[in-house]
Amino acid sequence: MNYRHAFHAGNFADVMKHVILTRILVHLRLKPAPFRAIDTHAGTGLYDLGADEAERTQEWRGGVDRLGEPFAPEVEALIAPYRAILATVRRRHGDAYPGSPLIMRELMRPQDRAVFVELHPEDGAVLARRFRRDAAVKVLHLDGWTALHALIPAKERRGLVLVDPPYEEPGELERLAREMAKALNKWPTGIFAGWDPIKDQRDVDGPAAIIAGAAPGKALRLELMIDQPTEPDRLNGCGLFVANPPWTLAPEAETILPALAERLARGRYGGFRCETLAARDAGH
Ligand SMILES: C[S@@+](CC[C@H](N)C(=O)[O-])C[C@H]1O[C@@H](n2cnc3c(N)ncnc32)[C@H](O)[C@@H]1O
Repeated sequence: MNYRHAFHAGNFADVMKHVILTRILVHLRLKPAPFRAIDTHAGTGLYDLGADEAERTQEWRGGVDRLGEPFAPEVEALIAPYRAILATVRRRHGDAYPGSPLIMRELMRPQDRAVFVELHPEDGAVLARRFRRDAAVKVLHLDGWTALHALIPAKERRGLVLVDPPYEEPGELERLAREMAKALNKWPTGIFAGWDPIKDQRDVDGPAAIIAGAAPGKALRLELMIDQPTEPDRLNGCGLFVANPPWTLAPEAETILPALAERLARGRYGGFRCETLAARDAGH
């Protein structure tokens, strides 16, 4: 396990993932019934942007650092909850960036519960310390893929599972799709969000077909491209498959993603995709 999220925290991919995450959680909060939040590959939950790791890559400069100027009002309205969490974190911790567990925790209400899973011994220990006095949160030191199936269906019946692996192993993109398909079968009403790295958008067609087959008409393929796929070894974009999305998510993503693509593009090229996967997409 070589991947450490501290090198990448706050980059363009985190911004895309975390803005969409906040939109899903905001929707879950609309009904008083409790929800369960699960993060199968959670990281440490908070990242110091002045630390060596962040200093070395400076990736946050191409992500959260570019959000200073306001967007158009309709975009600002949608990213307001994300901006509010960034502001809270800065107030409490200075020059730091929140990870997905902290974002989930900020949007939970007293009736909601969360389970955060992290396998890296050091990062897992940091995460466990962060939430040790928090009765609404359980931190598990476990393999996230095993945990994914062990923790569902949640007793709350409503909930969100974020699956955000490090992509260190070959075939992990197909694995994400297969595991999401299996999990959907076990918890058909859960919302599942699976993150994917994009070098070339065509690489994502196979996994998209698997998810389309498992949840035809009920899954979104969201993508943000910040560069053209001319450099095949570079991260040129990222995506999220969202199964059982709130009905509000597709129109919200159509507003948010083009604004992020324009703002976060490396050069002149920025692109996005927001597609509902249909049964015909399963035929690739
Ligand atoms: C992309 S990072 C997670 C970032 C986090 N979800 C966020 O958005 O702030 C992936 C994390 O998965 C952890 N990890 C790697 N293999 C794992 C496994 N098999 N089970 C659980 N966690 C794992 C890594 O240590 C790393 O912290």
